[in-house]
Amino acid sequence: MTIVILFGQTFKPKTTRMNFEYTEEQLMVQKTARDYAQRELKKDVIERDTNAEYPTQHVKNVAELGFFGILTSPDFGGVGMDNISYVLALEEISKVDSSVAVIMAVHNSLACYGIEKYGNDEQKEKYLPGLASGEKIGAFLLSEPEAGSDASFQKTTAEDKGDYYLLNGVKNWITSANTASTYLVMAQTHPDKGHKGINAFVVDRNTEGISIGPHEDKMGMRSSDTHSVMFTDVKVPKENRIGDDGFGFKLAMKLLEGGRIGIAAQALGIAAGAYELSVKYAKERKAFGTEIINHQAIAFKLAEMATGIETARILIHKAAWLKDNNQPYGTISAMAKLYATDVAMKVTTEAVQIHGGYGYVKEYHVERLMREAKLTQIYEGTSEIQKMVISRAIAKE
Ligand code: CAA
Repeated sequence: MTIVILFGQTFKPKTTRMNFEYTEEQLMVQKTARDYAQRELKKDVIERDTNAEYPTQHVKNVAELGFFGILTSPDFGGVGMDNISYVLALEEISKVDSSVAVIMAVHNSLACYGIEKYGNDEQKEKYLPGLASGEKIGAFLLSEPEAGSDASFQKTTAEDKGDYYLLNGVKNWITSANTASTYLVMAQTHPDKGHKGINAFVVDRNTEGISIGPHEDKMGMRSSDTHSVMFTDVKVPKENRIGDDGFGFKLAMKLLEGGRIGIAAQALGIAAGAYELSVKYAKERKAFGTEIINHQAIAFKLAEMATGIETARILIHKAAWLKDNNQPYGTISAMAKLYATDVAMKVTTEAVQIHGGYGYVKEYHVERLMREAKLTQIYEGTSEIQKMVISRAIAKE
């Protein structure tokens, strides 16, 4: 092998680690997700959205394909794929049905990853196999009526009672609140210590004292299962605490770094779905004697949409790659979420515009994608919170 010396360093010419190619496995995951989304999810997505109907059968089917254990190690019954595969799958599912995608994202990035990365051996063995098979769904309970963006302002208490903790309080906007069996709950044990007093617990949904609020009638992602959750004197065994006493807030922050890659991929899928529908429509629809794609007003919109989507994809895949390669990814994941969710909003709005009156009716899908895009700028940290995370990192550089 030839070695060259440049600026005092040795290099192997024509070798590089930068590589935009996907592996066979990653492409297989992408194709599996795409086929399922286009063949099955699409059939009844408008009815599910209109009726705010939970996608029970689709969640089972997607779990059978392995997507509810996609990141979880085979040691615990998962598929053990990388984060690139995960974002490819989420993008394809989100092109068609973001409600299924968010159930999958919260389950994988927050619940399963949280237990696998920070849980002890007993917790992993007890909870992960059921979650990885999709037989059980996971939820992440951080937000409260007064603690959304200001996540450390936790009012839910977890009093240390010796061999158990006693949970009291209310959690808000919880994805899969009613369908999940396994909750990852953040609660305050030492109010005098602020965020350093917060703990994280795995809690079985069926524990006495847990009640669920009404289904939130949302603008978009209407068929995902969003409720508040009330804890009234809920006894949680001591062994269900994850990590050391007081680690709960940091655990939540660390998990959201990965969660945001998933939501960015979801936003990307929403944008890509709207873009693909717009290209198809623009090639078919005629106005002023020609297909509208031949009008610069439409063609330039498509060019901008494609550029935004491709840029978002590169950022998301970089964040996923960094996570796969055990390198810091919190700032890039915040950038990916900030950027991809803005692209989703812009692209879906333009998609409705390209479709004209047809874009404003449900049959053409793009109005729903626009409603779904809006939520991606809000949950798992608003765009303003992402700017806070990014700017704080810049200040520390
Ligand atoms: N990793 C590890 N530790 C971190 C961290 C990270 N990413 N971010 C902060 N911390 C640590 C800090 O180092 C600090 O620790 P020390 O005191 O030991 O130094 C501690 O946490 C407190 O940090 P900050 O002072 O920065 O905390 P803050 O109160 O200013 O809040 C924030 C920071 C980034 C704004 C945070 O509150 C936040 O992310 N808010 C948004 C919450 C959010 O995304 N909620 C989403 C809900 S889940 C959801 O939507 C799921 C769903 O169902 C779809």
